Amino acid sequence: ELLAPSDAPLRGQHLVITAGPTREPIDPVRYLSNHSSGKMGYALAAQAKRLGAEVTLVSGPTQLTPPAGVRTLQVETAAEMLAAVESVIASADVFIGCAAVADYRLAEVAPQKLKKQHENMQLELVRNPDILATVAARQNPPLCVGFAAETQAVAHYAADKLKRKKLSMIAANDVSDSSIGFNSDSNAMTLFWQDTNGTLQQRALERASKAQIAEQILRQLTVLQSQ
Ligand code: CTP
Ligand code: CA
Repeated sequence: ELLAPSDAPLRGQHLVITAGPTREPIDPVRYLSNHSSGKMGYALAAQAKRLGAEVTLVSGPTQLTPPAGVRTLQVETAAEMLAAVESVIASADVFIGCAAVADYRLAEVAPQKLKKQHENMQLELVRNPDILATVAARQNPPLCVGFAAETQAVAHYAADKLKRKKLSMIAANDVSDSSIGFNSDSNAMTLFWQDTNGTLQQRALERASKAQIAEQILRQLTVLQSQ
């Protein structure tokens, strides 16, 4: 267990953090999801708590134990995640969207287990709400931080998401390297933000444990807050 630092730079702030995958039901026994482990979001929640913040973690299904002292709301679908975030966001100073939210859900959830019939079948999907963009579009939004897991053109897509979703910062990682990201205990990322002149700035975080990466992200955030 890491000792609390004496500076506690997040004291007095409420951070809301999403983590893990969402799970979109197909029928009573099946769902659509992704390989997110939740480790990065849980590491952020633990480090934010350690740095003095009040933390609310909104988590999709994971194998992880919520960090001590962190209020944790467990959800399954993207719609439930958005509702849980909206129930706590009014008092948030910072929102970090670390969840791997399913971009689509089933147009209709079958009430009974689907039986196999034909050689081919199609599922109709509809877009899920974008939780991060919804929070960032609020009146008096909290400072919003996003994540972008990309397999190509990482900086290009990350910078685009930063601007399009009106974020204060985005943490991008290249998930084409399967030894980092998703289920790994370590990670390497590049942080992107716009300085006070609107010029894109970036900072590479070298490969380190998710706890160390989380602390660096949170400390960069406090630098942006002080500008
Ligand atoms: N995000 C979200 N709600 C969604 C989709 C994404 O809050 N419905 C958040 C994620 O938590 C992440 C950021 O948006 O912080 C970027 O997610 P990502 O999947 O990389 O971007 P998308 O906008 O979904 O674009 P695409 O999947 O097409 O790359
Ligand atoms: Ca997506």
